[in-house]
Amino acid sequence: MTTSSSSAVEKTLKMKIWNPFFITFMIFLILGVFFYLEENNTYIIKTLELKGSVKEGDTIFKMNCVGCHGITARGLVGPDLRSITRSLNDTKIIKQVIEGLTPPMPSFEIEPQNMSNLLTYLHSL
Ligand code: HEC
Repeated sequence: MTTSSSSAVEKTLKMKIWNPFFITFMIFLILGVFFYLEENNTYIIKTLELKGSVKEGDTIFKMNCVGCHGITARGLVGPDLRSITRSLNDTKIIKQVIEGLTPPMPSFEIEPQNMSNLLTYLHSL
């Protein structure tokens, strides 16, 4: 009795795993994650290749970041960013800005050139 019921459970499990819809779903999920990571990588590589401008970066910082990080990046709701380039590398800073993994800081959709300007600005502080 117990054996037959456990084999029935096994059968349903096997059916679930090999269900074509389930397989299709998993494939799309894996591809989705892969393309998301790949896209972010391409973005980061592109940004790091560009040459940024402190002046442009300053403008972008004033428009998007001062509300939380303060007018001179001394920190407000968000932390002081004046020595951020010494504690985080450029890749980590880019991820912090585009990925939005630490609420309340939002994720920003920002062109690689503008991201590069922003990085150059942060390096100038
Ligand atoms: C809505 C408020 C808000 C805005 C707008 C915002 N931030 Fe933040 N930011 C935060 C908060 C809060 C943290 C701390 C997150 C944590 O680690 O929990 C943070 C963390 C960071 C960090 C990491 C600091 C560290 O010590 O790890 C960087 C770099 C950063 N922000 C850059 C920016 C830049 C550049 C902009 C503008 C494009 C920006 N932030 C806009 C709130 C904000």
